[in-house]
Amino acid sequence: MRIVVLTGAGISAESGLRTFRAEDGLWEDHRVEDVATPEAFSRDPVLVHRFYNARRAAVADAQPNAAHHALADLARKHDLTLVTQNVDDLHERGGSPYVIHMHGEVKRALCASCGHRWPSPLVMDVTTPCPACANLTARPDIVWFGEMPYHMDEISEELERADLFAAIGTSGNVYPAAGFVQLARQFRAHCVELNLDRSSVSRNFHEHLTGPATQIVPEWVARLD
Ligand code: OAD
Repeated sequence: MRIVVLTGAGISAESGLRTFRAEDGLWEDHRVEDVATPEAFSRDPVLVHRFYNARRAAVADAQPNAAHHALADLARKHDLTLVTQNVDDLHERGGSPYVIHMHGEVKRALCASCGHRWPSPLVMDVTTPCPACANLTARPDIVWFGEMPYHMDEISEELERADLFAAIGTSGNVYPAAGFVQLARQFRAHCVELNLDRSSVSRNFHEHLTGPATQIVPEWVARLD
């Protein structure tokens, strides 16, 4: 059985990492959308670096939870493609051997001038030079609003071949990820949503498992054995 799993911020919530659309959705009085765009970075790079330095520190303090570990088990037993919108590394630290980070990774840096990528220091700022071209144009290697998510060809191919598609802890507000269920369904995959609540695209799933990820993901993985 070929399985594609898409994860979102909800899978890391019980590890202590904030989701994007819970509570008031604000960070120091800024809308997340106002610090996660290329325009925001051009306008105020100090603010944007501060935002991602805080995310990087939070990720470094967080530990993978039972849901991350359960998906690592699933990869040992089935043909699994794990796609995440999360920029944390909790899937990797939870034992998943291969993770597609479609929205980038907070622990990586990207040079806006030459495109070089490298492991980011814990704290980045406007004086961080690119190790390849030395320009002071280092940015987090994160896909911002208005930018093209990574690895879309590989993800589409896997969705077209999937027998089972599961979306875990994602609100279905951000495309193209929110549209994966429609593509998988069109290609005849059984589609399951695992979430605390219904998402914006719930109606497209065949099955819904409702509850905290640390409970429902291990239960679902055990059922697939
Ligand atoms: P959201 O914050 O939009 O949604 C989080 C989802 O997780 C919601 O549907 C919650 O109901 C669910 N949830 C919360 N706690 C949970 C728990 N303990 N167990 C199970 N589910 C839980 O996060 P995403 O959908 O991941 O993009 O957001 C998508 C993208 O929007 C992010 O990747 C980010 C953001 O802008 C970029 O940074 C490019």
